[in-house]
Amino acid sequence: MPEPLRLDTPSRAISRRDFIALIWKGLLWMISALGGTITLRFFTYPAPDERSASIDLGPVSNLSLNEPTLLPNGSAILIPTASGIKAFSLECTHLGCQVAYKRTHFVCPCHGSEFAIDGTVIKGPADRPLQALDIETSADGHLILRMGG
Ligand code: FES
Repeated sequence: MPEPLRLDTPSRAISRRDFIALIWKGLLWMISALGGTITLRFFTYPAPDERSASIDLGPVSNLSLNEPTLLPNGSAILIPTASGIKAFSLECTHLGCQVAYKRTHFVCPCHGSEFAIDGTVIKGPADRPLQALDIETSADGHLILRMGG
């Protein structure tokens, strides 16, 4: 006797092999998406020049001669002298800790490097001077500090 013809939809059951293949495809898709994102981030990461910032420090008249001024975030110091205004990053050139201003020099709390008031190295392990920063005066008499780059 022939089997009766079934008109209902076929079973939606998935075999174990198909299930594992589906999981693998999903994982490969996620790994590809993550890798693509990382690669895109790598190639679009801004170069150091693009991360630089300009900071308006206000009128030049706010500074007093030979009275160093720390930026509020402590990242740089301005030193007005008779020959002009100098600015230094307070990031230690050894491994990047923030150096402390000690009136006559700068001291790094991490490994003890010391820098003179002109940024030169007095004592290592740092072997490069503090980074000098560019300063310019705007048309309205404000000091503009260029960070980064
Ligand atoms: Fe300043 Fe090492 S980070 S001495």
